[in-house]
Formats: sequence, structure tokens, C-alpha cells
Amino acid sequence: MTEPLGDLTLSPMKEIISELEARRTLAKAGGGEARVAAQHARGKLTARERIELLLDPGSFEEFDMFVEHRGTEFGTEKNRIPGDGVVTGWGTINGRMAYVYAKDFTVLGGSTSEAHADKICKIMDMAMQNGAPVIGLFDSGGARIQEGVAALAGFGEVFKRNVLASGVVPQISVIMGPCAGGDVYSPALTDFVFMVAGTSYMFITGPDVTKTVTHEDVTPEELGGAKVHTVRSSVADGAYDNDVTCLEEIRRLYDFLPLNNRDKTPVWPVEDDPRRHDMSLDTLIPDSANKPYDMKELILKVIDEGDFFEVGEAFARNIITGFGRIEGATVGFVANQPMVLAGVLDSDASRKAARFVRFCDCFNIPLVTFVDVPGFMPGTAQEHGGIIKHGAKLLFAYAEATVPKVTVITRKAYGGAYDVMASKHMRADVNYAWPTAQIAVMGAKGAVEIIFRKDADDAKALAARTKEYEDRFLNPFVAASRGYIDDVIRPHSTRWRIARSLRMLKNKQVAQIWKKHDNIPL
Ligand code: HXC
Repeated sequence: MTEPLGDLTLSPMKEIISELEARRTLAKAGGGEARVAAQHARGKLTARERIELLLDPGSFEEFDMFVEHRGTEFGTEKNRIPGDGVVTGWGTINGRMAYVYAKDFTVLGGSTSEAHADKICKIMDMAMQNGAPVIGLFDSGGARIQEGVAALAGFGEVFKRNVLASGVVPQISVIMGPCAGGDVYSPALTDFVFMVAGTSYMFITGPDVTKTVTHEDVTPEELGGAKVHTVRSSVADGAYDNDVTCLEEIRRLYDFLPLNNRDKTPVWPVEDDPRRHDMSLDTLIPDSANKPYDMKELILKVIDEGDFFEVGEAFARNIITGFGRIEGATVGFVANQPMVLAGVLDSDASRKAARFVRFCDCFNIPLVTFVDVPGFMPGTAQEHGGIIKHGAKLLFAYAEATVPKVTVITRKAYGGAYDVMASKHMRADVNYAWPTAQIAVMGAKGAVEIIFRKDADDAKALAARTKEYEDRFLNPFVAASRGYIDDVIRPHSTRWRIARSLRMLKNKQVAQIWKKHDNIPL
């Protein structure tokens, strides 16, 4: 924000104002021209350029531009740059308030000093008090090494606030350069982490220390680049090609999020008729139960204007999580993806979906679940990797969630995975099934092989038993006859049925048994 200057030509204020402007110019120059040029040469924007792109034009109000570090060791007292390597303040994104901080790599590598951390803490405290999200843009070498424990204390204060703010205001971290040492733990405590491919990396200990301790020779990219964290570790929820696209996508995500845990989900004007039928959905399910189809097609056809923000797209692709809108209001979607591992639930998919469900529940975002799941993934890798505990996370998350929950079973809902995937037994409010739904303990072949083991050598008898099992159980009506399914609906009407359910659930309230907090299996 810039303030208009009055006619000061004759005023004694002139000198004072010009000193103010000189100080501002110095602070805005960050680490100086050469370092800014080096930042650009690496394909990265500066902290202030990033904030300009993230926020609505002219809406940024900066705080603490004149703060300097208090270090006195190793010559740091001669190197005080106003602002101390982090730009902090608030502004708006499509008119909605946001607190923001951006680490400035041109100032001592964006490293975190005590004063730098104090600036971040100040806006985090304001965010919690005033009920608006915090977005942190990271580009930093970690703790300011010359400051020692004072820098560590600064980190600790930020971490503490990340924890206190969790579930109060959404917190988003965007990694746009190095993010090393203590700097990684603040993002890890926030709700969403996004990275810029090729220019950002996150690790607790860098390649040099890694080599000394484990004798592994790795590049920063191999150790903690965007691919590692979006595909393997799941530390990051998405990555984008460059700073500009990344910040545009953060703006898009922001439009889906409520400002705080007492806020309602934002509602945007929309042209898409909630009664819109999509006849192509009637033929989405292939004739053969083992043939895959793309569950994303269902999501895109059900939501307003096909506008879907996927979270964790590259990780555990057998489950889809993300935000869409129905009647202009945000909805969290969780859906098994039959295109990947037949949509099975494994440890990674369970963790990914559980975290998403919990985020939605924190921030009053209704959940819609599309189910086509053949069960939990068998095998030693999964069992030894703790699928019992990881699967329990998703079960726990769905059962504890009190936001409106609408479930649609499109095809398979087998075994424990039927229970877990927002079944009636997990307190889902409205449970629909398509006529193609098969709700059973397991598929026909596996079931018959177990219960008619004595007929194992009699192919004809087995075929007859399989047919009998299919006719009896592989449909939605056994579950519907018990009231576990509220209605069997025509696929083309799915959007309208969901919209009506969400209208019906708009004022949902659940009385909770008193507890300090729960103890989700971690
Ligand atoms: C102070 C730092 C710094 C740091 C970088 N700089 N990191 N100053 N403390 N942590 C300074 C450099 O001295 C340099 O200053 C400028 O920033 C740019 O750094 P370069 O090394 O020239 O840049 P580059 O080659 O791009 O390498 C960037 C980097 C590297 C990979 C981030 O600087 C690096 O490895 N830094 C240390 C990373 C690290 O180990 N951090 C952990 C800190 S311990 P001049 O004046 O020369 O331009 C920690 C523990 C906390 O965080 C744990 C809490 C749980």
C-alpha cells in the first residue's frame, strides 16, 4: 500500500518524509541488486514480487519493515538489513483477508533469526485473533547459524503457533526455494504444502551431512525435490512449474477455504444448475466388474462448472481428494480411483484421505464420498507397513467428523473398506447407491472359494455357487433393505441428489461427548 503525498514543499515535514522514504527504499531493496539479479537468474521471484502476485493488487500492507536482527556474533552486527529476511503483513485474495509472510533469500539466505521469527509470530497471533488464514512463502537456509540458540528459540515460537493455529485458521506453506533445517517443520505442521518444481527442495539435513552420516551421494533434488515430496514422502500436496503458476493456484485454492473454524464455507456466484442431469453417468460403470473407469469423470460432472482443486494428486493415486463446489459452496470430495490399483485402500491412501477428511471437518466443509473399493490391500508389504494402524486413521477420521457427510457407492464396497468409506456406521448422513453397487463382505470368487471349499474341485458346482452369491449379494438392495443405504439412485441424477442432501444438512448440529481431545492412531 502506498500513501498519497500532500504538498510538502514548504513544510518541515519534508525532510522527515524523505528520510522515511529513504528507509523504505532501503528495506525494499532487500539484499541488494546483485542478489536480486541472482534470484531472478535462478528463475525465482523476490519475496515482494511473490506477495504482489499472491494478493489482490494494491492490497498488501506490510508490517515490521524496519525490524533488524539483534545478532552480535561473527560480524553480523555489521550486516543489519531492515526487514531481516522476511516480508510480513496482510492483504486480500479476491477480496478475502489473508495474512502472509515471505522469506527473502536475498537477505542472509532468508535464514531465520530471532527477530525474523518474531515478525512471523506477530502475524500468526493476529491471524488467530482476527480469524484469517496464514500463507507462508519459504525460500530459506534454515536457522540463522550465527545466532545460535536465539534462532532456535525463534523457530520454537513459530512451531508453537503453528500448533495452536491448527484447526483455528487454515495454514498454507509454499516452498519456493531451499527450505532446510528448522524451516521444514513449520510447513509440516500446516494444512497444505505446495512446492515449485525444479527450484525448491525440503530436507532436515542437506546432502553434505547425509553423505557424512549415511554415505549416500545425493543431489538436493534427489534428497528433497518436488517429485520426492509429492510422489513418495507426501510431505507436499502438489507442485507447480514456476512461481507464477504456483501463486495463481494458491489463489484458486484460497477461494475454496473458509477464513477460520467459525466461518461458513465461501459461496461464489455460479451459473451451473444444481438440477443438471448428466445422462452420460448412466453408462460410466463398465459391463465387467473388473474393468476400470475414471472416477475423476464423476467428480468433474457432478461439481459446479467442473472446477476441481485436487489435493495430493501425485501421491496414493488410488484415492482422490480435493475441493469442488455444489451450488457455489465448497465441498470436500474423497473418491476411490478404480484406474489405479483397482481403487484399493492401502496405507498411503488411508493416510492421505484421513488427513483431508480431518481438514474438512476442522473447517466446516461438507464431505462427499464416492465409493468403489475392492477392500484393503493384502500382502506383507502392507501388513508389515502398518496398514492396520493407517487404515484405522481413515476410519477414525470419518467417524469423528461431524460435518455433513453424503456418500454414493457407485460399484464395489467390499469388506472393512465398506465400513470405512463413510458408511452409515461411520455417521454418514445420507448414503446413496447406484443400481450397479455391490455391497458385500468380498467379491463372488473369493467368497465362494472360502465358504464352499469342499467343492473346490467341482467347477460346475463352484460356478453355480458363484452365480448364487452374485445374485444374492452383489447389489445394493440387501444393504438398502436394512436402511444402511437410504436410496438407490439413478447415476444421472447424482448432482441434484447431492445438492438436495447438502441443503437438507445445512444446519446440521451434533452434540459431542465431552473430551479433551481424541487420540487418533498416529
Ligand atoms: C546464516 C545463511 C544460512 C544460514 C545461507 N546463508 N544459509 N546465513 N544462516 N542458515 C547465507 C550464506 O552465508 C550466503 O551469504 C547467503 O545466505 C546465500 O547462501 P549461499 O550458500 O551462497 O547460497 P546457495 O549456494 O544458493 O545455497 C543455499 C543453501 C546454503 C543450500 C540454503 O546456503 C546452505 O546449505 N545453507 C545452510 C543450510 C542448513 O544447513 N541449514 C540448517 C541450519 S540449522 P552471503 O553473505 O555470502 O551472500 C537448523 C536447525 C534448526 O535450521 C532445527 C530446529 C528444529
